Amino acid sequence: MSKTILRALAGEAQPVPPIWMMRQAGRYLPEYRATRAKAGDFLSLCYNPELAAEVTMQPIRRYGFDGAILFADILLVPQALGADLWFVTGEGPRLSTVTAQADFDRLGQGEMIHETLSPIYETIRILKGELPPETTLIGFAGAPWTVATYMIAGKGTPDQGPAHALKAENRALFEALMDRLTEATIDYLSCQIEAGAEVVKLFDSWAGSLKGADFDDFCLKPAQRIISALKAKHPDTPIIAFPREAGDRYVGFAKATGADCVAIDNSVSPDWAASHVQVDGCVQGNLASKHMVTGGQDLVDETRRVVDALRGGPHIFNLGHGITPDADPDNVQLMIDTVRNG
Ligand code: CP3
Repeated sequence: MSKTILRALAGEAQPVPPIWMMRQAGRYLPEYRATRAKAGDFLSLCYNPELAAEVTMQPIRRYGFDGAILFADILLVPQALGADLWFVTGEGPRLSTVTAQADFDRLGQGEMIHETLSPIYETIRILKGELPPETTLIGFAGAPWTVATYMIAGKGTPDQGPAHALKAENRALFEALMDRLTEATIDYLSCQIEAGAEVVKLFDSWAGSLKGADFDDFCLKPAQRIISALKAKHPDTPIIAFPREAGDRYVGFAKATGADCVAIDNSVSPDWAASHVQVDGCVQGNLASKHMVTGGQDLVDETRRVVDALRGGPHIFNLGHGITPDADPDNVQLMIDTVRNG
């Protein structure tokens, strides 16, 4: 097994950790902006396999990352279930809301998602023929809780208030939606693996707002269900879980869910992660994305701190969250040079 990301996921500590970056294909790159303009808008780009493969390749060509993440979005699954989805420039996603039983009853289920999502599988097949042999292709989906927060509110929210409210006021409906998303996520990721994704990642960006038993019920258990279903069908495909801002709940998450790697955000220190999370296996993370904007000696120092802290075990270097549109592409190169050359 020569791909460095697969080696890390199999538990190998490497002198130089493999590296990729969340949102590595994105608006900070001029070539991304040009291809997006050609596609017309973000969703048209996601559903155009040739152009989606092209933007996936752009950061690989420019920087030689060890991993390529499929270009798509976590909100394509609600759209495939029948929700309306659009993006408002400068604001973010908007969806038709699910707050009553009648909204839920309008959603589809099962096989119907593939009608909408088949271009995504085609993007993966194109990428298999284009990626350099050393680059690992990573598929992904949103975790049920995070996707549900957008479906319930109809947009992004600072505290996921509407989703917490539905959970409190109509538990049966909330749980039905979580179940529907769990099943769809298993089907979607399974098809990504069959199309050629070598690793899949589950993004639970709003896991941090689930506390106590809610964290167990709506972050940990769905992840466990998705991972065990995928492992039953595809035992050799490693899975990365990202319960963002889980804090103490990162501890034991890999063991409890069966994930091969836990991705950590930058609210926990890499030293803490080494002693509390990496003891169970591979860790991915966790340089603060702001360094891609600010650069300089701080970027170099913090990059070294992350690499040094996690050197003793399996590690995939990444940011703690996605790179932002105001990042300087030269700072990304400086981060990579620091990881690779010390
Ligand atoms: O990481 C990658 O490069 C792969 C592609 C990817 C995108 N979104 C492309 C994207 C991935 C893995 C995602 C995941 C995603 N999408 C998450 C989970 C990770 C996270 O960031 O917490 C979430 C919550 C979404 C939903 C979403 N999509 C939001 C809230 C937004 C708007 C915010 C923004 O940055 O504008 C998007 C749009 C989006 N998804 C963009 C990209 C490159 C920007 C769209 C554009 O080109 O205008």
